[in-house]
Amino acid sequence: MNILVIGSGGREHAICWKLRQSRLVKDIFCSPGNAGTAVAADNVVLDTAEHSAVIDLCRRNRIDLVIVGPEAPLAMGIADDLAEAGIRVFGPKYEAARLESSKIFAKEMMGGYSIPTAGFRVFEDFKKVEPYLDSAKFPLVVKAYGLAAGKGVAICSNSDEALAVSREMLVERKFGSAGQKIIIEEFLAGEEASILVVTDGKNIIPLVSSQDHKRVFDGDEGPNTGGMGAYSPAPVVDDRLLGVIMDTIIEPTIKGLSREGFLYRGVLYAGIMVTSEGPKVLEYNVRFGDPETQVILPRLKSDLAELAIAAAEGDISGIKLEWDASPCGGVVLASGGYPGEYEKGRAITGIEDAEKEGVLVFHAGTAMQNGKVVTDGGRVMVVSALGKDIKEAMANAYRGVKKIHFEGMHYRKDIGYRAIQRMKA
Ligand code: AMP
Ligand code: GLY
Repeated sequence: MNILVIGSGGREHAICWKLRQSRLVKDIFCSPGNAGTAVAADNVVLDTAEHSAVIDLCRRNRIDLVIVGPEAPLAMGIADDLAEAGIRVFGPKYEAARLESSKIFAKEMMGGYSIPTAGFRVFEDFKKVEPYLDSAKFPLVVKAYGLAAGKGVAICSNSDEALAVSREMLVERKFGSAGQKIIIEEFLAGEEASILVVTDGKNIIPLVSSQDHKRVFDGDEGPNTGGMGAYSPAPVVDDRLLGVIMDTIIEPTIKGLSREGFLYRGVLYAGIMVTSEGPKVLEYNVRFGDPETQVILPRLKSDLAELAIAAAEGDISGIKLEWDASPCGGVVLASGGYPGEYEKGRAITGIEDAEKEGVLVFHAGTAMQNGKVVTDGGRVMVVSALGKDIKEAMANAYRGVKKIHFEGMHYRKDIGYRAIQRMKA
């Protein structure tokens, strides 16, 4: 079969790389892609916001399946338009995609189906924020309600900070319309984990657990990013806890969506905080995580294309996934300044030397310029490696990282520290 992957991140490179291993797959196209997907697939220039152009491309290239990587096209209803054109798509339709594109919709679903999450209030009028903060408990969390590339969340330790962030969102419109409403929510203490499942709308297949590192600096300091590194599995999620997460979070969410009449075929990703009261939802994503995918797919022994097409066709009941027991760790190499402003177009060296160390280099913000790979985004690449345990996996990944260089390169040196600490304990 022929597959079109939409997106340009490390996640999409990992998806293309994994699809390439499938006997079922002939041609893979990626739009817009990056310098890495250009090797694993054929990059196509396409305005993916123009759904008719995507449909034309699918027809011209006899595409059997479209896998949508990022949330933005799903939030714009690409799955609806493709399905209407008779093209199979892995990714939920518009209404279900609101689980990610509207944090208010997500909270309503959680409220309606008794799914544990942080207590919250919604604000649209900045004048009402200050009186509320006067009697609020700190720290608390201020969130833009719409899509903000993982950056619309601030943990505030006092009223001045919370007020400043609320003003940026509601008045200064730092995140545009995504911040025309905000959620102020209770701070949840605990350890985070990402649980991703594949669903056809009824059946659910969990993927292996993983853990992201959201903050830009070592020791979980600095602003939130899209994710600076990840590892899988997340030891905090043992079998018992996974059972609780499936029973109290994942299943009620999928059943709830189905009961509301929202078709969901794709990946559902629950960002979980494991609190002393049990697991609670921090956020939903309606797609594969980035960088989680770059540490999950290297562990998948089964055929991703077979899984994705079955989900898109609405029946995954016949699928069983096999996993490599070895943990996988991945380190994001970012442009200096990310998640703030950064430069592009810096030459990247040492990728092949890194690959000789046995690591997987997944490109994210990269492009080809005069035959050379250059930086083209905030998160530039992810270096992933397997190991007999998480400590070895991380050491392997960092050996690869050491070979790669570009001006201003920044990466965290402590990815996996929680899991490694746990091994020592
Ligand atoms: P979100 O995009 O909602 O997942 O938020 C991004 C990150 O902010 C999460 O991965 C957490 O690290 C942190 N976060 C979000 N909500 C909360 C909360 N209620 N309590 C503590 N940390 C949070
Ligand atoms: N790594 C977090 C996300 O994909 O949203």
